[in-house]
Amino acid sequence: MAKIINRLYGDLSYLWPIISPPEEYGSEAAFFGDVVHEELGSGRHKLLEMGVGGGHNLSHLTLDFECTAVDLSPDMVALSQGLNPEVEHYVGDMRYIRLGQTFDAVLVHDAASYLLTEQDLQETFATAVAHLRPGGVLMVAPDWVQETFPDGWVYTWDRLQGDIEVNIQEVMTDPDPTDTQVESTYTYTIKKDGQTTVEVDTHITGIFPLNTWTDLMGQDGFSVEVRSLPPNKGGYGSWLFIGLLGMSRS
Ligand SMILES: C[S@@+](CC[C@H](N)C(=O)[O-])C[C@H]1O[C@@H](n2cnc3c(N)ncnc32)[C@H](O)[C@@H]1O
Repeated sequence: MAKIINRLYGDLSYLWPIISPPEEYGSEAAFFGDVVHEELGSGRHKLLEMGVGGGHNLSHLTLDFECTAVDLSPDMVALSQGLNPEVEHYVGDMRYIRLGQTFDAVLVHDAASYLLTEQDLQETFATAVAHLRPGGVLMVAPDWVQETFPDGWVYTWDRLQGDIEVNIQEVMTDPDPTDTQVESTYTYTIKKDGQTTVEVDTHITGIFPLNTWTDLMGQDGFSVEVRSLPPNKGGYGSWLFIGLLGMSRS
């Protein structure tokens, strides 16, 4: 089934740098960079980020890594290209894309949340395998896992940039606990030039137990370690799955 690009990554993509600005990604990006150096040693390693979005996280890594980026949405790729002009960008689906290159590290940050089925996870891990050198490191950081999923969660925040003021409300629910999908409805109230506009956008994301992530990564040849990520605003971003390709951990 073809993926639907949500409004936030399509006609409303101009809101992304306002509601989730690059400076909010510094500590998480530093954590990812430290993991790569810990696992592979120092050096300017080659890093591929899949699901790069606006490139906010990536913008904190381009100094220390030789970066390449992929995203499904042409609008988000355009944003990331503007922020990270030195990075090679590709429009494509992380489940299927094949760039014909290998990297030392592959990162799937919060875009991992848009993998809806175990098959999506398997296909994405296969893409990572196809793009990693032996001993390379895969890092995957979904927003939520089943064990920490806050059903019925409501979160609101405000952002101001230039003359645009945005209030964001996110309501997250699990309409069918027997499947692996949950629903977030975002309401954006946008004030500009004395006018108020309200936009609504529903995102379907995947939810899996911790051991689904680790088992499926293991089946693709990764030896896996799980670490908790530093807490960030709103409580998003719970766990980081770190896989070393074809290596055992001592
Ligand atoms: C929350 S945004 C990522 C934001 C990013 N971390 C940043 O720093 O700006 C999620 C992104 O995942 C992308 N995405 C969703 N499914 C994808 C897929 N199957 N392949 C590639 N990108 C995907 C969306 O287009 C969107 O840009």
